Amino acid sequence: MILKNLNFDEYDEHHSPRPDVTDFDQVIESAISRRGFIGGVVSIGASGFVLGSAAFPDAVSAKTDRFGFLQIPSNTYDTVTLPEGFEWKILISWGDPLWSDASEFDHNSRGTADSQKRAFGDNNDGMAIFHRSGRTVLAVNNEYTNRSIIWGNRKDGKAKTNDDIEKGMMAHGISIFEITPTADGWSVVKDSPLNRRITPTTDMELSGPAAGADLVKTSSDTQGKFSQGTWNNCGNGETPWGTYLTCEENFNGYFSSSNENYNRSDSMKRYGINLEDWGYGWAKIDDRFDISKEANESNRAGYVVEIDPFNPGSMPKKRTALGRFKHENADVVLASDGRVVVYLGDDERGEFLYRFVSDGRYSVGADNSDLLDNGTLYVAKFTDDMRGTWVALTPDSTGMTAAEIAVNTRMAGSKVGATTMDRPEWVASNPNKVESYVALTNNKNRGIKPNAGGDPTPVSGPNPREANVYGQILRWRPDGSDHASNQFSWDLYAMAGNPDVHTDANAGSENINPDNMFNSPDGMMFDTHGLLWIQTDGNYSNDGDFAGHGNNQMLAGDTLTGEIRRFLVGPKECEITGMAWAPDRRTMFVGIQHPGERGESHFPGGGTSVPRSAIIAIRCTDGNIIG
Ligand code: FEO
Ligand code: CA
Ligand code: CA
Ligand code: CA
Repeated sequence: MILKNLNFDEYDEHHSPRPDVTDFDQVIESAISRRGFIGGVVSIGASGFVLGSAAFPDAVSAKTDRFGFLQIPSNTYDTVTLPEGFEWKILISWGDPLWSDASEFDHNSRGTADSQKRAFGDNNDGMAIFHRSGRTVLAVNNEYTNRSIIWGNRKDGKAKTNDDIEKGMMAHGISIFEITPTADGWSVVKDSPLNRRITPTTDMELSGPAAGADLVKTSSDTQGKFSQGTWNNCGNGETPWGTYLTCEENFNGYFSSSNENYNRSDSMKRYGINLEDWGYGWAKIDDRFDISKEANESNRAGYVVEIDPFNPGSMPKKRTALGRFKHENADVVLASDGRVVVYLGDDERGEFLYRFVSDGRYSVGADNSDLLDNGTLYVAKFTDDMRGTWVALTPDSTGMTAAEIAVNTRMAGSKVGATTMDRPEWVASNPNKVESYVALTNNKNRGIKPNAGGDPTPVSGPNPREANVYGQILRWRPDGSDHASNQFSWDLYAMAGNPDVHTDANAGSENINPDNMFNSPDGMMFDTHGLLWIQTDGNYSNDGDFAGHGNNQMLAGDTLTGEIRRFLVGPKECEITGMAWAPDRRTMFVGIQHPGERGESHFPGGGTSVPRSAIIAIRCTDGNIIG
């Protein structure tokens, strides 16, 4: 098996094999007979599912066209394609310096640790724009780095020197920089005092229930109050008080053990912390990534981190009250009484969907700085009658301490019988209505294997297809139109699929057709008009189950009519992830991540240039508002 071509989940499974089908195939059997499954796939209409617009009565009432663009066909070009009337340009690419004394990106060497520290990181993901006193700042996650690309200057595509390893490390973290409008669109302000790189070595405070607990004490911090750095920052969030939330996802893949007989804890096994890392080699230059030397270091990662984007000297805070897992994004809304509600997905096959509700209330102009430290974390339980409950994770419900719940959140979720999900990616809440959406990207193990904690993953509820290769978008509406309510109704806004290839449920829901089909929904954001923008991170083979899907893409969904239209197609072997609007909403920023991850792209430079992740700026050619 060639490890470099494995995605994160496949890597974890390779190192921590799950048991083959055991007694829970019993459960699947009963699910299949109960739901009238054919060939292991639910047939639409035979189950209790109501797909798309029919579940909620108002969903079919408005048949207006709110898109403002005509759909484009799928393609496999090595560039960005947009509808007529729109144009794009590069805002910033991996390795572009943020300060004028740093060197430009070098396509031969692909940079050094020093140049990378002062440049835009790799593999940009979630991002947000902050505007204050006439200045605009973009905060961007740099999720990870493609080792075969960043070390592509080496013959075997592997790190040769410690500087190579550190260069890879410095490509991770967050890039924060000022941008300004010019005659040619928005540009990066080099040398702005607001520019900042946050990396896996930046000092951070641990706050919330895990702070000070034995579980997070290490040799460098015997009090358990601090953490060093952040990495694998995937999706994001932003708070009403103007801070940036960055979400640590596959933090496990950076740890390894110099002792091959090291006995991993149950928690390490649940989180996929293995004796081998994912090829980054960080333990070779920093002992804290060696689990046999620093067993608690991994307990200091896997959180949501809050950053003040206008204060480059501020220390980021890891908000442990929001739990520790493979965080996708952090979708922040307010409950009816002003309490802060944060929706959170754990992106691994068969893991859970979470909600945090603060104790305190948000108040404009008040000190809101610690609202994310005190509150209750909940996990979602879905039932087939299209209802659901948020179950509180407390010492009473789990038999765990508050610190244990914050650190070993997955185990707490298992204890209360949370619903195993098809890899929860981004959550997005409608700004014009009390309802939220989550992208359940895919799950080849659905109905096949338990999750890493041994919880069964039967085909049921919002995860209705066995060995789900296409993914679906689930939505829920809290009772009483209050995000703090513990009960909700749910339905599926869309089941992705391929109506050219399948006639069963793998054709997708009724709002999927040969002209708009896609797979593996991932990033999602609402614009001010209530359009749901959907970004994909899926199979781009354009073959077999995925014939006609083309490269990864971005679509917009009208959540009233159910209609979905393709807006953008990305270059080869990329995913589309991360999105933000300029303050005047005439420019939309979109992330192009890992073009050419398997060697088939030269985006954006063309020719023989090194493929580089980038943020593109999109605008209407007539200068109209977009989103
Ligand atoms: Fe980084 Fe789940 O995507
Ligand atoms: Ca990604
Ligand atoms: Ca993602
Ligand atoms: Ca994904």
